[in-house]
Amino acid sequence: MRLLPTQMCRPGMRLAKKIYSEDGLVLLAENVELTAKLITRLYECGVHFVYIQDPRTADLIIPDIISEETRHRALSEIRTNFRDLMDRPNRKSGVTYPYIAKSFKQIMTMVIDDLTDQKDAMIMLMNMGIVDDYLFQHSLNVSVYTTLLGIANGYSRDELMTLGLGAMLHDIGKTQISMNILKKQGSLSRDEYEEMKRHAERGYYLLKDEPNIPLLAAHCAYQHHERLDGSGYPRGIRGNEIHEYAKWIGLVDSYDAMTTTRIYRNPLLPHEAVESLYAGTGTLYEQRMLQLFRDKVAIYPLGITVKFHSGESGVVVDINSSCPHRPVVRILNNELGEELKVPYEVDLSKQLTTMIVGVNEDQPIAEAY
Ligand SMILES: [Fe+2]
Repeated sequence: MRLLPTQMCRPGMRLAKKIYSEDGLVLLAENVELTAKLITRLYECGVHFVYIQDPRTADLIIPDIISEETRHRALSEIRTNFRDLMDRPNRKSGVTYPYIAKSFKQIMTMVIDDLTDQKDAMIMLMNMGIVDDYLFQHSLNVSVYTTLLGIANGYSRDELMTLGLGAMLHDIGKTQISMNILKKQGSLSRDEYEEMKRHAERGYYLLKDEPNIPLLAAHCAYQHHERLDGSGYPRGIRGNEIHEYAKWIGLVDSYDAMTTTRIYRNPLLPHEAVESLYAGTGTLYEQRMLQLFRDKVAIYPLGITVKFHSGESGVVVDINSSCPHRPVVRILNNELGEELKVPYEVDLSKQLTTMIVGVNEDQPIAEAY
């Protein structure tokens, strides 16, 4: 299988992996043949990448970062609980929701188990489904990616639970922000932006009195938009005033926002997003955290098409976990763009003079486009 931008799919291609609906249910099964209409529809629904069958990479298996069961359960719980809170804006203080703590702790246990079961798990594209409501999928992505980084950072299981809960609930305050602002297409007015920014504080007040939610998780909601140099919000705290967990969540939150399809723009590719985050080294994000993050992100995900400076192109078939920016590539086309009769593989961690200069170039464009 290989990973193709939806716009580059052609009618007749077959799906190699399921496509999920917003709530984590299977919308299109494996092996479904794409039609021009289906391709257009997927693109319109915000599915910008799909896994496609290709006999030249038929042996390539791309594991999901969390199991289908965990994903479905998590999205369903997040959606149910967040929608419940959306229906009750201006919640009075002193009213708690013990169910939130119970259900989210159960989900986090599943996420931690899934991630600790995998050796060398990497942050890979996870937004392969229809996303009607960005908030739910985003909350799941941020908790999965942050937990993965937490494991790499050596946190204990208890610490991972608090970190993961903080990540899953970091934007819970958005349930108290008007839908008109949350879903507005185009830029927000000054007042609307000020209102949007209040989600951090509102999240804190929603969580801080929940007896079974660690207070630190509430602080993660409060602090996830604070930045190292004090340029963040709501309080403009800086450096060590920001808890380490909130720094991890802030970093992952930015990454997921950049690599996710939004109404107003196409997503960045992982390597573009990492580069953009690096521009904030020492000012917005800690260098040590960025380095660990970079080492755990598959910036060239399995199945993606890359082009070398020589003009040759091929598909990423293996990721060197100690050196994820130098993957193993199966060359399918020569420097003239001609298809090779016998593909061969290049391990970029060993062939250091070969450079990747493009991603998803020279691909067939769907007739629909
Ligand atoms: Fe946020």
